[in-house]
Amino acid sequence: MRDTRATDRQQGLEVLDMKNLIAGNWKMNGTMGEAIKLANSIVDAIQSDAQLLEKNDFLVCPPFHHIVPVEAELTMAVNIGGQDCSPFDAGAYTGDISATMLKDVNCSYVILGHSERRSYYSESNMLIKQKAQMANEQGLTAIICVGETETEREAGQEQDVVATQMLESLPEGATADNTVIAYEPVWAIGTGKVATIEDITAMHDFIRAKLAEKLEGADKVRILYGGSVKPANAEEIFAVANVNGALIGGASLKAEDFVGIAKAS
Ligand code: PGA
Repeated sequence: MRDTRATDRQQGLEVLDMKNLIAGNWKMNGTMGEAIKLANSIVDAIQSDAQLLEKNDFLVCPPFHHIVPVEAELTMAVNIGGQDCSPFDAGAYTGDISATMLKDVNCSYVILGHSERRSYYSESNMLIKQKAQMANEQGLTAIICVGETETEREAGQEQDVVATQMLESLPEGATADNTVIAYEPVWAIGTGKVATIEDITAMHDFIRAKLAEKLEGADKVRILYGGSVKPANAEEIFAVANVNGALIGGASLKAEDFVGIAKAS
């Protein structure tokens, strides 16, 4: 039953591709009770506006131990994913969660290479590539995060940094069906600072062009923007041609804001 539901979600995505992906990264927040309440509120808010599903796919990525109870509250309209996975499949890897385990509990996505993991846990592009490979082998879509620091942008290195992160993190066999790119300037995450529309346009165009050098069907890969996205700034961000959704941290913890962002698309 659960497997079928996960498969339906994946198939639904393929048919309805290039809807905006509205992805919530709950990070390390909340109690079990709060997670379940948030899931319920998100489902209620989506169901109260049927048109939202015509333009958007939804995804929530709770902490690992909240995945099963949260998934039980979600309808098919909302996908569930992990915030990370192991580069290994199974065995003596204390603290790790494998892509197989995520798939087993109906996840269809996994966020990989978030800047918090790159900086606090020194994750390299090579490690992220190995994780993405495992994710893809299990049928999970890897959301590969890239983004420059403020110092790198001030030095005019943002495109070089993003291209290197992305091209070195993409696994062999990456396709538009199993890969999403999330551009998140590090200085915009959790700070309230948002990149200008010109900067977002330039970077998303650049990412699309670089993807085309690496994989077929690059025009179908969803490129999300992330970094202080809120209902108030979502409309102009979604109006950018190569923005195909958002990866949302802080605002994804309030159903009203999370669904409010989708309403702007
Ligand atoms: P934020 O986080 O929306 O709180 O800036 C985005 C993210 O870390 O993915």
